[in-house]
Amino acid sequence: MSLKIGFLGSGKMAKAIILSILKSKISSPKDITCHDISEETLSSLKEETNVETTTDNKVVLANADIIFLGFKPQNFPDAITELSNDIKAHHIFISIMAGIKIDQLQHHLSPRIVRVMPNTACLIGEMAAGYTTGDELTSSDLENVEKILNAAGLAIQVNEEDMDAVTGLSGSGPAFVARLIEYMIDGGTKAGLDPSIARQLALKTFSGTTRLLEQWEMSPEELIKMVSSPNGTTVAGREVLENSQTKQTIEAMIVRATERSKELGQ
Ligand SMILES: NC(=O)c1ccc[n+]([C@@H]2O[C@H](COP(=O)([O-])OP(=O)(O)OC[C@H]3O[C@@H](n4cnc5c(N)ncnc54)[C@H](OP(=O)(O)O)[C@@H]3O)[C@@H](O)[C@H]2O)c1
Repeated sequence: MSLKIGFLGSGKMAKAIILSILKSKISSPKDITCHDISEETLSSLKEETNVETTTDNKVVLANADIIFLGFKPQNFPDAITELSNDIKAHHIFISIMAGIKIDQLQHHLSPRIVRVMPNTACLIGEMAAGYTTGDELTSSDLENVEKILNAAGLAIQVNEEDMDAVTGLSGSGPAFVARLIEYMIDGGTKAGLDPSIARQLALKTFSGTTRLLEQWEMSPEELIKMVSSPNGTTVAGREVLENSQTKQTIEAMIVRATERSKELGQ
């Protein structure tokens, strides 16, 4: 059965989610209705995906059961003005807005809320997200929501109080990982490689290591032991890394991003 899905705010993240929904055949284009204030955004979305588009947000509520809130948090008040009479008991709202809590969403919309913290890798169907839910979602509602979110990558249900830590780890994570990759590229370049070769090798080393850990279900420590021969190159490099403050710095980075998420949510 094709799910009837709507989007209020149909920018970059919405388009990425739509593409994964279509790719996994969760809904057909005619069952996806998208609203945005930008006609240009809607026409390019229509051209690329053939979904239904509208500049009247009430049409989304009339057509869809599951509705994504894909606008920025600062646009939340404007985007839902005059919608209250059109919200029906069957509607489920999935917010991808950073920082807006379940009780605020429930207060303004409906008890049937899912709050997701996605990350930028959603743009290529490789999202790592945490989500939390409000009241009144049945197990079949949840099954549908999970099907949609997992089509865009990985989505793990957490308690709402853990959403700040999700923001600190995976929400901000792509920037942290990109910085680490940059340091690896700089290291390879300093060691004598052409920067473009260092880039290719660093990228593949990150993605290959991730896949190995996943596919062989290994702990990082097991993989480290596997690569480290006594007195070899890996051990020599690890000594520099492990005698530095890198572990403490990386942990502090995630804790600080989590704290900042809490501060912004006040
Ligand atoms: N991008 C990320 O990596 C990322 C990660 C985690 C969470 N998020 C969350 O995802 C949401 C969307 O981000 P995005 O990167 O997709 O932003 P985006 O590309 O700017 O998309 C938001 C869209 O909403 C439209 N909009 C503004 N006001 C509106 C209104 N009143 N009614 C309907 N649509 C309206 C915007 O139009 P205009 O451009 O004309 O204003 C824009 O087309 C945000 O809440 C953000 O916090 C994003």
